[in-house]
Amino acid sequence: MSTVITGIAELVTNDPSLGSGPLGLIADAAVVVDSGAVAWVGRQHDAPAADARIELGGRAVIPGFVDSHAHLVFAGDRAPEFEARMSGVPYDGGGIGSTVAATRAASEEALRRRLRDLVAEMRRQGTTTVEIKSGYGLTVDDEARSLRLAAEFTAETTFLGAHVVPAEYTGRRDDYVALVTGPMLAACAPHARWIDVFCEPASAHAFDGASARAVLEAGRAAGLGLRVHANQLSAGPGVQLAVELGAASADHCTHLSAEDVDALADGTTVATLLPGVEFSTRSPYPDARSLLDAGVTVALATDCNPGSCFTSSMAFCLALAVREMRMTPAEALWAATAGGAAALQRTDIGHLRPGARADLAVVDAPSFRHLAYRPGVPLVRTLERDGGVTG
Ligand code: NIG
Ligand code: FE
Repeated sequence: MSTVITGIAELVTNDPSLGSGPLGLIADAAVVVDSGAVAWVGRQHDAPAADARIELGGRAVIPGFVDSHAHLVFAGDRAPEFEARMSGVPYDGGGIGSTVAATRAASEEALRRRLRDLVAEMRRQGTTTVEIKSGYGLTVDDEARSLRLAAEFTAETTFLGAHVVPAEYTGRRDDYVALVTGPMLAACAPHARWIDVFCEPASAHAFDGASARAVLEAGRAAGLGLRVHANQLSAGPGVQLAVELGAASADHCTHLSAEDVDALADGTTVATLLPGVEFSTRSPYPDARSLLDAGVTVALATDCNPGSCFTSSMAFCLALAVREMRMTPAEALWAATAGGAAALQRTDIGHLRPGARADLAVVDAPSFRHLAYRPGVPLVRTLERDGGVTG
């Protein structure tokens, strides 16, 4: 059954060959969707007939947000840690241990309920694809449980056993890396598409370059794609390691040297910026302009997690990117949609060319620019695909 969506004041296709500018904008547009895919886009007066019609009354339509970095399998709450940070306590990743304890103690049903609520919260705000990491279990069984749960909600599952060294391995980092790269990886790889590591020599809790390399190489040998938490707290080795190993994405990129920017510009690794983290940890924002000006592919994601950034709103991150990182509204919109798709190496999402997955989001405003112009206002919602929920 086909549906024609009309009354689109501005359609963002993300295909410059279909409309104006880098976002491929079409004014007074219509979209036809059929069997869960985009069948046609163009000017409304040229639209073909369809079985059903949805009239949007002059609103903008964008590709659904692609949130390529989120940690949604957890229990507990770290509001007191956030409150302490706002009065000057720095973020060093040490609070992750308290979420690990709460997650291990939680029932599978409690974790699933929390996860379902967060994914629904994201969908209500226009996110149609989300990557979900493990990383709050940190035992073989708890990591595998997290990934099995994540896989109920997304195909983009990421094994993050190398999030921090858990308390029971204090002083035995190498033993923990051996566990992650051995039995834990074997138990988790069947449920994961990606492997990730928190590469941060400046943190007492995370992993240095050599350990991160061992984790990533083991993951690759097990058939997983690579992602890296890189250069969040200091200009460490993470970004260059990600580029050298051909990782899909280097995430955070808060502290970058000129060599890091050059490496990203020469490589294929996407730089995924997470400005909600800088907002919520009161840290300096990444230098998005130097990345964009060097030709690096930039993505924006929420990093939704109970510690460093507990927002599920891609629109909020987009507004931060424009206000705080000097991205243009068009660059930010692209990064939050097509950029996220690039970071997940997906060609079926992040754009609205015919053949794309019919993941449409409606902005309750005449232009996508209102996403940054009207920060904090819940303007975006997901348009249900063929009457069903997008996934
Ligand atoms: O992406 N940096 C490491 N991991 C998460 C934070 C996790 C937490 O604090 O619970 C991040 O910021
Ligand atoms: Fe993260």
